Amino acid sequence: MFLRISKIAIFLMQIWCYYFYCCHGCLEEERTHLLQIKDSINYPHGSSLDKDWVGKNCCKWSRIRCNPSSFRVTSINLKLLREERLGIWHPNASLFAPFKELEALTLKENQIGGWVVPQAFSKMQSLRHINLDHNNLSTSIDSLRDLCELKNLRSLYLRNNNLDGRAFSLCLSNLSMLEKLLLWGNNLGFYSGAPTGIK
Ligand SMILES: *[C@@H]1O[C@H](CO)[C@@H](O)[C@H](O)[C@H]1NC(C)=O
Ligand SMILES: *[C@@H]1O[C@H](CO)[C@@H](O)[C@H](O)[C@H]1NC(C)=O
Ligand SMILES: *[C@@H]1O[C@H](CO)[C@@H](O)[C@H](O)[C@H]1NC(C)=O
Repeated sequence: MFLRISKIAIFLMQIWCYYFYCCHGCLEEERTHLLQIKDSINYPHGSSLDKDWVGKNCCKWSRIRCNPSSFRVTSINLKLLREERLGIWHPNASLFAPFKELEALTLKENQIGGWVVPQAFSKMQSLRHINLDHNNLSTSIDSLRDLCELKNLRSLYLRNNNLDGRAFSLCLSNLSMLEKLLLWGNNLGFYSGAPTGIK
């Protein structure tokens, strides 16, 4: 009799676990942070994510990937969400800092001209890949210096921005783990400090 009750208890627990992981698969705090990011993109207007990013399980949302065992967000893709009529965007970099396992971040084609709170990049040490193609980043201290704090970065895409050759002397050469640096569509030769042989 007792054995049977405990078997039932275990069965019920399995159902509960299944329900928990199936339907609440992302951490509530990370879900909240994603919603903050969503709201900031075209603030105070909405974005096309308003209809996609609904429900409890942010791991099932479009453009999001999670680690299947920790349920933490590992990849965020925000390509082409900034509305053109709103002009240049300065994302608040701290909004991306709370994701402890974030490895890949895509912000391409969003008219990014720089950052609010760029120092927050130094907290994103799990980041391996960042795609900033087709934005409006220039070689200013604030738009690049803090990206160079991403010491574990393996790939950095900066095609079609407004960079010049000073980007290297400023800090890009500090990214020692970098395997892939894409820079075409900038004005690298524009400044005599540009190293040769970089395509
Ligand atoms: C940037 O985001 C952080 C975290 O949400 C917030 O505390 C801070 O006030 C924001 N800063 C600005 C200037 O918007
Ligand atoms: C992009 O930045 C440059 C300066 O780096 C500026 O002259 C230009 O107007 C910006 N583009 C837009 C669309 O604001
Ligand atoms: C880049 O490295 C140099 C030499 O190690 C250091 O002095 C400088 O502060 C670094 N810059 C950044 C932005 O990390």
